[in-house]
Amino acid sequence: MYRSHTCGELRASHINTEVTLAGWVQRVKDRGNLTWVVIRDRYGITQLMFNEESPEGLLEASKKLSRETVIQIKGKVIERESKTKNMETGDIEILVSELTVLNEAKLPPFTIEDETDGGEDIRMKYRYLDIRRNPVKESLIFRHKVSMEVRKYLSDKGFIDIETPYLIKSTPEGARDFLVPSRMNAGQFYALPQSPQTFKQLLMVGGMDKYFQIVKCFRDEDLRADRQPEFTQIDCEMAFVEQEDILEIFEGMTRHLLKEINGVDVAKFPRMLFDDAMRLYGNDKPDIRFGMEFGELNEITQRKDFKVFNEAELVVGIAVPGAASYTRKEIDKLIDWVRRPQVGALGMVYVKCNEDGTFKSSVDKFYDQEDLAKWAETTGAKAGDLICILSGRTTKVRSQLSALRMEMAERLGLRKADEFAPLWVIDFPLLELDEETGHYHAMHHPFTSPKPGQIELLDTDPGSVKANAYDLVLNGNEIGGGSIRIHDKETQAIMFKHLGFTEEEAKEQFGFLMDAFEYGAPPHGGLAFGLDRLVSILGGQETIRDFIAFPKNNSGRDVMIDAPANIDSQQLKDLSIQLDIKES
Ligand code: AMO
Repeated sequence: MYRSHTCGELRASHINTEVTLAGWVQRVKDRGNLTWVVIRDRYGITQLMFNEESPEGLLEASKKLSRETVIQIKGKVIERESKTKNMETGDIEILVSELTVLNEAKLPPFTIEDETDGGEDIRMKYRYLDIRRNPVKESLIFRHKVSMEVRKYLSDKGFIDIETPYLIKSTPEGARDFLVPSRMNAGQFYALPQSPQTFKQLLMVGGMDKYFQIVKCFRDEDLRADRQPEFTQIDCEMAFVEQEDILEIFEGMTRHLLKEINGVDVAKFPRMLFDDAMRLYGNDKPDIRFGMEFGELNEITQRKDFKVFNEAELVVGIAVPGAASYTRKEIDKLIDWVRRPQVGALGMVYVKCNEDGTFKSSVDKFYDQEDLAKWAETTGAKAGDLICILSGRTTKVRSQLSALRMEMAERLGLRKADEFAPLWVIDFPLLELDEETGHYHAMHHPFTSPKPGQIELLDTDPGSVKANAYDLVLNGNEIGGGSIRIHDKETQAIMFKHLGFTEEEAKEQFGFLMDAFEYGAPPHGGLAFGLDRLVSILGGQETIRDFIAFPKNNSGRDVMIDAPANIDSQQLKDLSIQLDIKES
């Protein structure tokens, strides 16, 4: 038996018990005739004591222990002289009678403490050491708790956990596929699933009624703090449901998690139309923990002498609370911020709402106090606020002002990690225009059903067709999304046609699904949560990497195992692949 107790378990009630512990050396405090060693495992830390009365050689041996050595000790639990509340085992220590070194350890490349001296790169290279640190360990345990609660909730509601294959054919979710060459079928490739979308729909045709899976998905896309090339979905599908049934079940699940994991009670989730989200927040995933709603100002700013506004498709502003006190220099800095390439605005007009009820703007030449008072009213600005106004093409200007809104909220400390504001965004457009190519593509995915009665509009005004598609947003992050699906072959064929597939292409790529629709497909719909995102937001953070045991870096590399890597020529030959890579 390696241990009788864990390193987090012993309390005053264990005093005088003989115990065996095993773990890693966290610290050695050498006091000459006395050594204290702190031993650590997943469960906590315990202080060990070696002194002159210890069996022969032990005191000397304890002094030689280096950090991270794996040891086993036997000893008696004794009351600690100087008790500490800083550790759960702080009332006791172990008077050691036997010490065994189970494995030596090299000096780790960074300190394994809550606050470490190791930078991101080195910690990723030695991720197994990083995982020994409390913050990383706690995040992984937190993730486990969330996924167990999810499984419990869904299983209790009658959902069946079914695995679907990873070696499949492309499923269009809007990213590039990761491809896997087939040795047995020379020149052919599997695609790793961007999601199990088609399979879960086929499970509904198969009569499984309620499906879920906590499943890896793979997308070859540019990485950000909330995106990894392989990530995990809580993927769900239900038969014989309407949008309302789905929203209800998954609102219930999210509320359950907020309660069980965070101890937070949240009332019914508000719902917002996609169009309103864009109009009021410039964004389809608004953070509604704070105000600063957009005020559209075209009516009251145009037809004066200010050319920039007159020529703009949209003039829109927000009132930043308390920022009228910004100095000229601070405002100039803010203007520089919106002009950064990442935001891309050409400039910013501002209005200071003075405490005495007057206004001072950067466009005083063109607008009088009465005009500015109207702007303040439309943006909801109060005395002491700063109105920031951007103008230009609607889509661009909305996203720029949305970036500014989030930045100001961050600076003002309005994005509180322990405050939770879930929101359903509903009635997404079915199609989205790619401004570069001029083609429409599916905003959610090609299996999403148009709203009843809108299918005819596809021919005349495709951009206006709305879908039974919805996203769940939490604190400004899209944590889940789904839709009611098309379940008849004809509608699916019309949809493929509008997405630019020829009949042959549609048949070749999705013939299996179209065939299935001819054998009694029930009405169905579902959604998928991004588990990594959900966990990180419940955990009060927005970087999903911290909640993934072995994440990839921003270039999609695993720097620990050094992947992706070259493969040897024999492997390539077996796969009938010839590489033709030009040295750059
Ligand atoms: P969607 O593409 O919206 O829908 O994905 C669902 C959720 O998965 C998360 N997500 C990601 N998380 C981390 N890294 C990524 N690269 C990444 N991409 C997506 C998001 C997102 O809301 N098959 C549909 C679901 C359905 O219709 O039922 C789908 O995959 O939180």
